[in-house]
Amino acid sequence: MSVRRNPSELRSARWFAPDDFRSFGHRSRMNQMGYAVEEFVGKPIIGIINTWSDFAQCHAHFKQRVEDIKRGVLQGGGFPVELPALSLSESTVKPTTMLYRNFLAMETEELIRSQPIDGVVLMGGCDKTTPGLILGATSAGVPAIYVPAGPMLRGNWHGQTLGSGSDAFKYWDERRAGNLSAKDWAEMEMGIARSYGVCMTMGTASTMTALADVVGLSLPGTSSIPAADSNHARMCAAAGRRVVDMVWEDLTPARILTQGAFRNAIAVAMAMGCSTNAVIHLIAMARRAGQPIGLGDFDAASRKVPVIANVRPSGDKYLMEDFYYAGGLIGLMSRLKDFLDLSQINVSGRTWGECLQGAEIYSDDVIRPLDKAIYQEGALAVLKGNLAPDGCVIKPSACEPRLLRHAGAAIVFDDYVALKAAINREDLDVTPNHVLVLRNAGPQGGPGMPEWGMLPIPTKLLKRGVRDMIRISDARMSGTSYGACILHVSPESYVGGPLALIRTGDTVAVDVPARSISLEVCDTELANRRVALQPPAPRYERGYGWMFSRHIMQAHQGCDFDFLETAFGRAAPEPDIH
Ligand code: FES
Repeated sequence: MSVRRNPSELRSARWFAPDDFRSFGHRSRMNQMGYAVEEFVGKPIIGIINTWSDFAQCHAHFKQRVEDIKRGVLQGGGFPVELPALSLSESTVKPTTMLYRNFLAMETEELIRSQPIDGVVLMGGCDKTTPGLILGATSAGVPAIYVPAGPMLRGNWHGQTLGSGSDAFKYWDERRAGNLSAKDWAEMEMGIARSYGVCMTMGTASTMTALADVVGLSLPGTSSIPAADSNHARMCAAAGRRVVDMVWEDLTPARILTQGAFRNAIAVAMAMGCSTNAVIHLIAMARRAGQPIGLGDFDAASRKVPVIANVRPSGDKYLMEDFYYAGGLIGLMSRLKDFLDLSQINVSGRTWGECLQGAEIYSDDVIRPLDKAIYQEGALAVLKGNLAPDGCVIKPSACEPRLLRHAGAAIVFDDYVALKAAINREDLDVTPNHVLVLRNAGPQGGPGMPEWGMLPIPTKLLKRGVRDMIRISDARMSGTSYGACILHVSPESYVGGPLALIRTGDTVAVDVPARSISLEVCDTELANRRVALQPPAPRYERGYGWMFSRHIMQAHQGCDFDFLETAFGRAAPEPDIH
């Protein structure tokens, strides 16, 4: 890097360098904690934003890892400061962590802006923490490096491998069908999450940590390291050392998060058989960085890039631990060179072309050659039509092929409570050809767009051996989910999208190869139904939820708050110091 800043140009110098009354206060309060002036003045102050908490199961190792990062920062000649932030446990936070992704983004941005921070290390992993931290750091604009939590160990039950989420869903269906005992179910509960780290299927966490890596914000390839591997602790120290140099080099997110970086991320997402949530988060991240990325970019990439990561749920066998041993993200990217812009740089300051030199793959079954792909195309497909004018998403690689072209009568549920009440009823009038529809589960309606989109198969059909059917909603689904689930219908029903007009018995036609979804009801009838539509009750009257409801954007726009979307160069001003 040609840029080399000097200590007087550090952002923290505004707080600590002047010979005035206010800086006396800043320095004396650092002295109060036992630090001598020469330890922090004139050195890059590195904020370590730590999403640890006693509820952040996937981040349980962050208490130790933050010490590894601090060690690295000190070795690099910086001064580390740990800053706790919202932890957002995917399994614990209700009604959904998606309600709070933007809260974490705002917290991250303001933690940085309001304090003497020259660079940051972002510690995340569990689903929404990755985009939340990156959205905030993007807008704050200081050099930032993302440290991924890493996937947990493989699950185990009676010697059989268990995958996070995917196997919970699968075996819950077997339990409902009467094929699994309470004892077996209880034993699985003890074996499915065996260590700290994020879900080890290619769910949202492993997808988003990999994409943070591809856009250039992690030390290259480190997103694949399992949480419990000692390489993970060494990676943390290396990130601490590197971010100090990034401050001197002024290697900010604005220099890394280019249009090409996001296009690379979309290509890799397709090759990994990514979580559908990646669509929403990447669009939000790109728009924050001032890069116009939309649903069409995902659909175009899915038609070109084959799925080559044989990792569940798109793959049939392996988990993230296997992916790491097979060569990990660097191995996978080396197979995708023709789809990538290798001139893009990452936090190492090097181009991806340089970083992929010497990459090796140790298992062609886990990371497939392009001509032996899991699916030649179809990691994601974007459908449009009168039911979803602004689009919706399906994961063809994770559903039964017979359902890719399908027409059937809708059974419509107005909310999840109604769905839950009906789904186990033996007298529910449902066949495998029906189309299950859930509405009022979008960004405003959910609220927070919960992961309800893998609507449960009715119990009476499960008992007949049915394991997949068309399901449509304005919700999201877990990245560990699977099936013919059409998600993110936009605009959502709560704000009057056409999903609000559909009635039980209407025919819905889905044609994934043609990328279409249509409600086969005439325009006149739909117009009459719209006149009769009653506005739904407000979800919140006060507090954060009230603000969320007023400012959340729709799924195809990435669900950012409208007032947070700013391109680089239009960031909020630095705070006055008087
Ligand atoms: Fe944390 Fe799945 S629950 S990544």
